[in-house]
Amino acid sequence: MDVIALDDPTDAEVRRWHAVLAAAHAADLCDEPAPDPEETAARLRAPGRRLWGAVDGDVMVGVAELRLPGGPGADRPAEIDIRVLPDRRRRGIGTRLLTAAAEGLRADGRSSVIAQVMAGTPAIPFLESHGFRCVLTLRGLLLRMDDVPADRLERLVASGPPGYRLVRWRGTAPDEHALALARAKHAMADMSAYEGLPWDADRVREMAELVAKRGDDLYTVAAVHGDEIAGFTEVVVSGETPERAAQYDTAVVPEHRGRRIGIWVKAAMLQWLRRERPEVREIETDNSGDNVHMLAVNEELGFRRQRESREYQAFAADLPSL
Ligand SMILES: CC(C)(COP(=O)(O)OP(=O)(O)OC[C@H]1O[C@@H](n2cnc3c(N)ncnc32)[C@H](O)[C@@H]1OP(=O)(O)O)[C@@H](O)C(=O)NCCC(=O)NCCS
Repeated sequence: MDVIALDDPTDAEVRRWHAVLAAAHAADLCDEPAPDPEETAARLRAPGRRLWGAVDGDVMVGVAELRLPGGPGADRPAEIDIRVLPDRRRRGIGTRLLTAAAEGLRADGRSSVIAQVMAGTPAIPFLESHGFRCVLTLRGLLLRMDDVPADRLERLVASGPPGYRLVRWRGTAPDEHALALARAKHAMADMSAYEGLPWDADRVREMAELVAKRGDDLYTVAAVHGDEIAGFTEVVVSGETPERAAQYDTAVVPEHRGRRIGIWVKAAMLQWLRRERPEVREIETDNSGDNVHMLAVNEELGFRRQRESREYQAFAADLPSL
């Protein structure tokens, strides 16, 4: 068995890579859609990543992808994804792939790497045995629109705090709200440790344009106090699979917390979507495991707990070397 760099993969190598992803997907507990061959090919050929394959004769038995966001040597953690064929596990293949990727990490001058994995899978003991530490737990939640009684939404929407009003828009924020929305997005600063960039009106518009370019629809509901946005929530309805929408950011600015603004804007969003996009059957969201307030709001609205994913991080110096 050899581990080889595959930085410019041939069509055959891309196909063998995809076969490893498909076999791992079929074997592992996972509620993500099966990997698509074309998407896999496009991703493997996109810039900003390094690839290694573990090959045994003609068979690819494991793969490692190291994403290097922000260009060569950027001061940001890299992201690693390793998959080994289910019937070839516990023979050191994952470790050899990680060792090769660790050399790539150091060669790029990065000091750390992160991995997103599902709780309860072999990835957890694997990463923990190699110097990774859990830095974030995300609880997946799912709301079925049919489970939310219309009269409950009506009551919640009618019980907004005095002095605040609701506004809403589809797509890019209207000029009158763009700057206020950027300010409110700072309320989520604790969640965006890896994003680094400050929010301003241009970045708010760029994010909305990006969603539109993908063919998806961004819906925003905000609570306004004077000319400030006190809290807001965003949902994206995918052009391809509108039946399952995705919750994006929700935040309440610190000085406006404790007035049930979070649940107010979310209830107004559900009511709006129910009327405007009846094809939306479910909304999925992730909550940081320690964000007890947002978890409580979501559970009160009817979101049910699904999978738990975790983010692990390791420093280059702690990873295995050749
Ligand atoms: C996680 C994964 C890559 C590990 O690959 P692997 O080739 O089996 O890993 P290794 O044989 O190198 O394991 C190294 C060590 O990790 C730990 N480990 C790995 N799998 C484990 C398991 N199922 N249970 C307990 N410990 C485990 C052990 O300490 C192991 O050493 P040991 O076998 O001497 O006890 C593989 O299980 C996989 O592809 N999982 C699905 C995809 C995934 O979640 N990838 C993680 C993204 S980074």
